[in-house]
Amino acid sequence: MNINYLITGANRGIGLALAEELISNDKKVICLCRESSDSGKLISLQTKNPGRVELYEADVTVENDLIGASKKIENLDVLVCNAGIMGARGGMMDENNKYSIISDVLMTNVAGPFFTIRAFLDQIKQSKNPKIIIISSHMGSQKHSGSESYFYRASKAAINNIMTTFSNELKPIEIPIVSVHPGWVRTEMGGNFATLSTQESASSLYKFIQKIDMADSGHFYNYDGSKLEL
Ligand SMILES: NC(=O)c1ccc[n+]([C@@H]2O[C@H](COP(=O)([O-])OP(=O)(O)OC[C@H]3O[C@@H](n4cnc5c(N)ncnc54)[C@H](OP(=O)(O)O)[C@@H]3O)[C@@H](O)[C@H]2O)c1
Repeated sequence: MNINYLITGANRGIGLALAEELISNDKKVICLCRESSDSGKLISLQTKNPGRVELYEADVTVENDLIGASKKIENLDVLVCNAGIMGARGGMMDENNKYSIISDVLMTNVAGPFFTIRAFLDQIKQSKNPKIIIISSHMGSQKHSGSESYFYRASKAAINNIMTTFSNELKPIEIPIVSVHPGWVRTEMGGNFATLSTQESASSLYKFIQKIDMADSGHFYNYDGSKLEL
């Protein structure tokens, strides 16, 4: 069966690595990135794999962008809400704990996946093997000892909560939805000292995504498929 995947924020980091992993597994991938994004690596992936990479512009905080992209897409099975930002990394006095940055973090990490899922729900509903994956973070777990990154943590806790609500609403139509921590990954967000390469994270995520079914819906997982506390 030909399974179509869609990834938001696919132009770099974990999103790009997951797109490459899908292509190396003979899948078709629909890649979304912002108009302002550097999409060079995605265009090169598209050129090297004719007919297997579709590329559309969408900022996940702009619902009309997502609806516009959705109108161009017919078939979709697996939706991966990956786009995310960090905002302030420090403690309460971090100067980036200010209105504009807090609002960007919440709009991108919380409203972004919500708008994305709504925009592509019609296509997902038509799939014989639908799945929705939200790339969250263990930093959003309520059981943590961290004393920094206030709004990033809060945003990932909030999207995990929204995932639970979606799982309840989507249960009658049998669409599974999960949140996944991708590991600590060497990207612009994760930094150079992170333990996993983007390829290692993407390869584990891909294997886990294959196994997701309705029994997993509403839960939070590590990239290796083990369960995490919400
Ligand atoms: N790296 C880690 O260790 C780690 C750990 C836990 C969770 N995560 C999560 O994993 C996901 C990917 O992170 P990453 O490490 O790959 O980060 P990254 O390298 O900073 O990449 C972030 C991606 O999100 C896109 N993005 C940001 N805001 C967007 C918006 N409003 N609309 C559309 N795209 C947007 C970026 O596009 P531009 O190029 O246009 O900015 C970029 O493609 C995030 O949700 C993050 O919270 C990462």
